[in-house]
Amino acid sequence: MARKRASEPATITTTKEVTVSTNKETKPPPPPPQETSNDQPIAPPKKGFIFKLSLLLIAPYFYLLFFHYQIQHDLIKPILINAGLSLAGFFLTVKMIPVASKYVLKRNLFGYDINKKGTPQGTVKVPESLGIVVAVVFMVLTIVFQFFNFAPDSNWLVEYNAALASICFMTLLGFIDDVLDVPWRVKLLLPSIAAFPLLMAYAGHTTIIIPKPLVSYIGLKVLDLGFIYKIYMWFLAIFCTNCINIHAGINGLEVGQTVVIASAILIHNVMQIGVSADPEYQQAHAFSMYLVQPLLATSLALLSYNWYPSSVFVGDTYTYFAGMTLVVVGILGHFSETLLIFFLAQVLNFLLSVPQLFGFRHCPRHRLPKFDPQTGLLTGTNDGTLVNLYLRMFGRKTENSLCVHLLLVQALGCGICFGLREYKASSFNLHRILLVASAGPQLDGPIM
Ligand code: UD1
Ligand code: MG
Repeated sequence: MARKRASEPATITTTKEVTVSTNKETKPPPPPPQETSNDQPIAPPKKGFIFKLSLLLIAPYFYLLFFHYQIQHDLIKPILINAGLSLAGFFLTVKMIPVASKYVLKRNLFGYDINKKGTPQGTVKVPESLGIVVAVVFMVLTIVFQFFNFAPDSNWLVEYNAALASICFMTLLGFIDDVLDVPWRVKLLLPSIAAFPLLMAYAGHTTIIIPKPLVSYIGLKVLDLGFIYKIYMWFLAIFCTNCINIHAGINGLEVGQTVVIASAILIHNVMQIGVSADPEYQQAHAFSMYLVQPLLATSLALLSYNWYPSSVFVGDTYTYFAGMTLVVVGILGHFSETLLIFFLAQVLNFLLSVPQLFGFRHCPRHRLPKFDPQTGLLTGTNDGTLVNLYLRMFGRKTENSLCVHLLLVQALGCGICFGLREYKASSFNLHRILLVASAGPQLDGPIM
């Protein structure tokens, strides 16, 4: 029996369920799914698509890194070593996924593609949990990278290893979930356990800057939240990790959203390094790049198999792993508020999901659109997800075009974030210029 099952379309029923249903009903059981051999190789990676997508995402990043800003050589060097390792990780992941697919299929770890139900493709056993390959390659890359960058007594090393421990712990729990299919409410809590290594080791700042209009009421410019800041980090880890997992179910969406957010984070990091002269601040952003580059490279490799039509599924192993990695870089890079804006689509999806997640409305096992095998189009259902809302607002779509649209929405959210930051910076600069003009040169300091 498949350990992991799709929402059991009428034509796809396991042996156990056939027995149960014949006891209850007089109707003959539905025909079993068409068996596919476990030794059958998966479809090759979509190399051309990934190459074009990589160029599109990485070109602005490299432009900013090498040409737009004057970044010091000693900062660029580890970033490039990390990029080289990540590239190797990309090819390793591409090679390993077909091998791992055979093994997971042998252990009956597969799912049926719900959005192909009623077509021959809907009866194919798609290998599940291939996120495990990404996570293993990612861990190897990030561990090996320590050799090139951190001195044994580096202050950063403790947090770096704590970050890796949380990511590794999350991957383990995600894989356990894929194998055991734990109940939904337990699933929600898994990231709260995995975040512990990071929370315990975190020794960074625990302060927040009070917005100017509130300073006169609170009487403080900076508020030290102390222990409460750790609780904020804890909630952030639970929230972001689950957010990625529930914005899912369309070929390419789980990995695609991670790829878009990771690219936006890289661009944000390089911009912050470029405009700042504070070495500590620059290090925090470089630190986040050391984790995001391998995440992006290995995720692109997975996307080459998971893009429509998916020849592998990523599993909760991947969604939890990716969510935790993004949270960790946001926290240790000190840009968790910006991260939340990059997560705009996920936050919206979460808000739409609240009634079902918290039991005010029935929450089925899968909250996916309805697929029409005759036309190949998806129609939005009443389940509260961004996927369904988008289909209800903009009409029926094929699975592939829906995924592209949703990723563009994701990119738009990231674009809004850059726009907001730019607006804030320029209005701040304008404010300074006006002050300098009216109060004289004594106010003229460095504008960041
Ligand atoms: C979350 C969502 C659920 C959604 C599911 C899709 C909530 C509360 N839960 O559940 O609504 O249906 O993710 O991943 O919002 N699958 C496809 N096509 C894909 C990807 C997945 O058909 O492109 C199906 C496969 O049958 C696969 C299964 O989804 O085996 C994986 O579901 P799983 O990740 O276990 O679902 P959850 O994370 O529990
Ligand atoms: Mg999932």
